[in-house]
Amino acid sequence: MLNKITVVGAGNVGATAAQRLAEQELARAVVLVDVIEGVPQGKALDQWESAPIEGFDTRVVGANDYGPAAGSELVVVTAGIARKPGMSRDDLVRTNADIVKQVSQEIKRHCPNAIVVLVSNPLDVMCWVTKQVTGFPRERVFGMAGVLDTARYRAFLAEALDVSVEDVQAMVLGGHGDTMVPLISYTTVSGVPVTQLLDRSTLDKIVERTRNGGAEIVAFLKTGSAYYAPSAAVVQMVAAIARDKKRVLPCAAWLEGEYGLSGIYCGVPCKLGRKGLEQILEVKLAAEEQAALKKSADAVKETMAAVKL
Ligand code: NAI
Ligand code: 2OP
Repeated sequence: MLNKITVVGAGNVGATAAQRLAEQELARAVVLVDVIEGVPQGKALDQWESAPIEGFDTRVVGANDYGPAAGSELVVVTAGIARKPGMSRDDLVRTNADIVKQVSQEIKRHCPNAIVVLVSNPLDVMCWVTKQVTGFPRERVFGMAGVLDTARYRAFLAEALDVSVEDVQAMVLGGHGDTMVPLISYTTVSGVPVTQLLDRSTLDKIVERTRNGGAEIVAFLKTGSAYYAPSAAVVQMVAAIARDKKRVLPCAAWLEGEYGLSGIYCGVPCKLGRKGLEQILEVKLAAEEQAALKKSADAVKETMAAVKL
């Protein structure tokens, strides 16, 4: 258990993540920070009042400043605006870069030793903004997207095969966008290659649905984007860190030559433990998967170019 986790942004993803963090008692205190007066305080108090029913002792507190967040060992950044119908993640880039820059300055000042897990979109570029502004090493700045994209892929596969989601093992790499790379060659059902269980056309449809997973939810909700699965995904990463589990999960990591890519955040398999991102695992990819990863990284680079720091 950590002493203090701060979640910046008390909107849909942030507030739901705070609740899940508290319910799993991943820290003694969870601090929710947002710029809207009263919202983090009200949501935090409401969550704390659920503690006697849910049976957790994690104190949840809300604030409009970073005083209560001081000394947090881990900070989750969900601040920003979410996608509306017709908007791509990249449309968000300029607004969210300014917000994440300001948030990162506060993190550097108040939580200089924190591990920072980014959620705000466009995810891979926001990770870069935080790394640049804080100067923290790559072990302490990384992003959540691959766990969510993989969960969607696994859910669709489990549905198509009528098997438990728990028996579908898979990994989605690349940037968090339309060019993400679900690795069919590493997808198994309890060790059985998925290619033995589903034909190529069904698999291609599932891959396409996974790539559009975020947009599919936006089209339903109309006024915002997904938050139940995203908050579950970020809490799975936080749990791996807080409990020093050494879990291997796809995360947006700063690459320094791995997979032939450098100077960029991109989703790759990472080992998460108490020190943060403890290792990047380089696995052999099929030629078409390596090419797709390169294409995805190029898309991230294009979006990075739109940001002036
Ligand atoms: P939301 O609109 O419900 O919440 C965002 C919150 O950030 C708002 O409460 C807003 O007041 C707050 N905020 C804005 N500027 C701030 C600042 N300077 N400091 C502190 N708080 C600030 O949005 P939602 O649905 O929670 O999504 C949050 C972000 O996460 C969006 O950028 C969204 O696109 C992204 N996202 C990323 C996912 C991923 O897989 N990486 C998945 C889901 C969402
Ligand atoms: C998602 O994939 C909006 O990036 C967010 O749902």
